Amino acid sequence: MSMELKKFETAWAGKTCLCFDALESTNDYGKILSGKQKVHGTLIFADTQTAGKGRRGRVWESPKGSSVSMSLCLEPKLPTEKAAGLTLVMALSVASAIEEVTGASPKIKWPNDIVLNGKKICGILTEMFLREEDYVVIIGVGINVNVLEFPPEIREIASSLRLECGCEISREALMEAAMKYFETYYEQYEACGDFSLLKEPYEARLANRGNQVKVLDPKEPFEGIARGIDDLGNLLVLCEDGSTKSVCSGEVSVRGLYGYV
Ligand code: BTN
Repeated sequence: MSMELKKFETAWAGKTCLCFDALESTNDYGKILSGKQKVHGTLIFADTQTAGKGRRGRVWESPKGSSVSMSLCLEPKLPTEKAAGLTLVMALSVASAIEEVTGASPKIKWPNDIVLNGKKICGILTEMFLREEDYVVIIGVGINVNVLEFPPEIREIASSLRLECGCEISREALMEAAMKYFETYYEQYEACGDFSLLKEPYEARLANRGNQVKVLDPKEPFEGIARGIDDLGNLLVLCEDGSTKSVCSGEVSVRGLYGYV
């Protein structure tokens, strides 16, 4: 396992970036590191992961040389119940970075998948750990950048920036832009402790805004029209009976009526 230190031109996020050729999981490495030292703003990158983790216990593939697998470690000053919202802050940051670097305008499938032309190009997995005096949040981001082939079982729903934009994209430029946007959006989220300042740019990218969605609530699934998010980052769904339900991201998934988005 070889490691190289990289410095992005940012104020704090990714200012120190530990780059590995391979790790089991950048999130797991972040967890180990944060048990030993202060890590706020430290970014961990791996050219490939041998045991990359997706949400809901799924496996995340990180093809060598063509994907971005990175984890940003944070020591937030926010109360712990606000930490989950940082996933949406990262989704917005990565989407903005993709637009800056590629010119394409990606959408966010609430809460945190980034999609281009209806296909997933980025997933985010956030984990939180308590330390003696504070807590650490590790936001893991997997971006399909220059990946050219996907396994048949996900070919219909997954794609890469290269496939969608038709040209090779610089992974470094993308990471640096994501960290720059994250600094701005994080400071706005931290300043007011909610999404009031970020709601507008987030909703502008919301893939299923105004569309009929199925909310796969294990207790009681329901359908409605996705309207936007509230100050906590919950999805607001207008139901047939005229009521609006607020859906919390940790608990359920949301699907379009005709497929993934
Ligand atoms: C998802 O299921 O959509 C979330 C995927 C998150 C993948 C990233 S890659 C970097 C970080 N390390 C991991 O093991 N997972 C996340």
